[in-house]
Amino acid sequence: MVCCEYFHPRDEGASTFTVSMPRLTFGRGCLHEAGARAAALGMKRVALITDPTLVEGPFVHTVKSSLGAAGLDVAVFADARVEPSDTSVGEAIRFLNDGNFDGLVSVGGGSAMDTAKAAAVYQRYPATFTDYFGAPAGAGISVPGPVVPHLACPTTSGTGSECTGLSVIRIDALDTKFVLASPYIMPDEALVDPSCTDSLPERVVASSGFDLLSHAIECYTAKAYTEWAPVANPTARPNIQGANPWSDLSAREALKLVGRYLERGVADATDSDARDSLMWASTLAGMAFGNCGTHLPHAMSYGVTNLMRDITTADYPVASPFVPHGISVIVNSPSVFRYMAEGAPTRHLEAAEFLGFDVKDAGPDDAGEVVAARIIELMRATDMPNGLGGIGFKLDDVGGLADSAVRQGRAIANAPRETNRNDIATIYERAMSYW
Ligand SMILES: [Fe+2]
Repeated sequence: MVCCEYFHPRDEGASTFTVSMPRLTFGRGCLHEAGARAAALGMKRVALITDPTLVEGPFVHTVKSSLGAAGLDVAVFADARVEPSDTSVGEAIRFLNDGNFDGLVSVGGGSAMDTAKAAAVYQRYPATFTDYFGAPAGAGISVPGPVVPHLACPTTSGTGSECTGLSVIRIDALDTKFVLASPYIMPDEALVDPSCTDSLPERVVASSGFDLLSHAIECYTAKAYTEWAPVANPTARPNIQGANPWSDLSAREALKLVGRYLERGVADATDSDARDSLMWASTLAGMAFGNCGTHLPHAMSYGVTNLMRDITTADYPVASPFVPHGISVIVNSPSVFRYMAEGAPTRHLEAAEFLGFDVKDAGPDDAGEVVAARIIELMRATDMPNGLGGIGFKLDDVGGLADSAVRQGRAIANAPRETNRNDIATIYERAMSYW
């Protein structure tokens, strides 16, 4: 592609990329549009998917009232779990099977939206749960076709799941999270109402902010789509297709916003400029990774979640041990980018600059250090744990972490440098502490 050196054609590389997006409405108060939007999608009997902490709160109330005012029947499933698993999604599938629904409305963070996406697939196309997951977790069978319409209403500023065809589900028998990916699970519409973040605890804003930051920077530094092999069936082109001009566009803006507003949004819940900007950045980063895919920080985060032992937080409705997703990602990120910058130095330098770092004296050899320095600066300013050691991991854990992470094959292959298990172990070792 002539616009950018990074996408120059490669022999036997892909020459095309696909952009998939839902219709999206952004702004304070837009949850009140839920009824009109759902009716316009043809819904008459709606399954509202949410979680136990939100079900009695104002956002579910607003959405439910709006759906009712539009004349729709609504039944609520309030058992979406943080870190949804095949077991918890199974409960949602049974709920859908019993209800004769013609549409889904999800209200919540990534867990509610991802539960809705996965449940819709298995309700419509019953299968062994791992069938629609890629190898090595599953059989790699494509989701066969469309599912019921889905209106997604995110209530946190991090996941971006409202605009991706991705659902992250823990497979209990395999003891880790894997990604269900299909264009058919992209929500049809999203209502992104930043007023939902006004009441979020600062620790949740911080963790979800680092999640979106890492989505954006992983997309901006992912290997180019022209380095992936062309696909035989264009309608089955994976969401994880590498960096491309579309993902650049939204990743770049998301990095600028999170670099500018993360500290303010964490420090002051009344700073609506900051919290609105983080919500928009989250959606932008979702637009990026839904059409590019993340790479090593996210792949490595699943090892962290899997082997977590002794962190808990009062701000999440789960039994300990539990590490919030954004923290499980960001504790790896500086170490990953120090390692990866050699594969795309200009991109790493640019990313540091978008995040607000002065790079005028930095050259390509400094790229990894510069981007790591800016991330660490933001981590310290928002009281994040100091690397893996800050959440209880020791060097003895590195082997197990690496064994867990290497199962995330396509995400690892989306990075700008190739890595094997030993490289990943080294990156974990260097993620133990940063200051
Ligand atoms: Fe994430």
